[in-house]
Amino acid sequence: MKLKIKRDILFEHLSEPVFRTGLLEQLKEFNQHGSSNCYDHSVSVAKASLYIAMLLPFHFKMEQLVRGALLHDYFLYDWHVTKPEKLHGFSHPHTACRNAKRDFDITPLEENIIKRHMFPLTPVPPRFKESYLVTLADKYIATKEFFAALRQRLHPARALRLFSRSVPYVFSFMIVFLPWK
Ligand SMILES: [Fe+2]
Ligand SMILES: [Fe+2]
Repeated sequence: MKLKIKRDILFEHLSEPVFRTGLLEQLKEFNQHGSSNCYDHSVSVAKASLYIAMLLPFHFKMEQLVRGALLHDYFLYDWHVTKPEKLHGFSHPHTACRNAKRDFDITPLEENIIKRHMFPLTPVPPRFKESYLVTLADKYIATKEFFAALRQRLHPARALRLFSRSVPYVFSFMIVFLPWK
């Protein structure tokens, strides 16, 4: 069976309790990067995290990985409209964590995934390999969403040139931040 099909079956199984509880559906109302909303963004990050975890030769706690990834941006407001007291980039992991604790029984690992996913913008590093994985998947998906939005606005040839120039930066960023335990 293809890995992506296996990933989708496992994702459906592990994410079902999260979709059944809490206010995840509300994330559809909030814009994230470009034309994507917080719901699509969170699902993409969770699926990318799971896919990479299945590829790597390490043992990952898959259920907590998916739950943490789905809730990493559970801040429940549109950051383009509502301006929080502190800058959104720094404060939203804590808001998301507070909301997740209110609506779900989250484990210390899931809490760490949510709180530390903005590393290295927020300087405290993640504690678990699952948290590092979500941090990387989040940046990868955010970059994809950013360029997808840019592609919609720019001439295709110019967008392609911009995208190809960014690839080495994305790769070097990923390699530098792969200090697996
Ligand atoms: Fe975030
Ligand atoms: Fe995110």
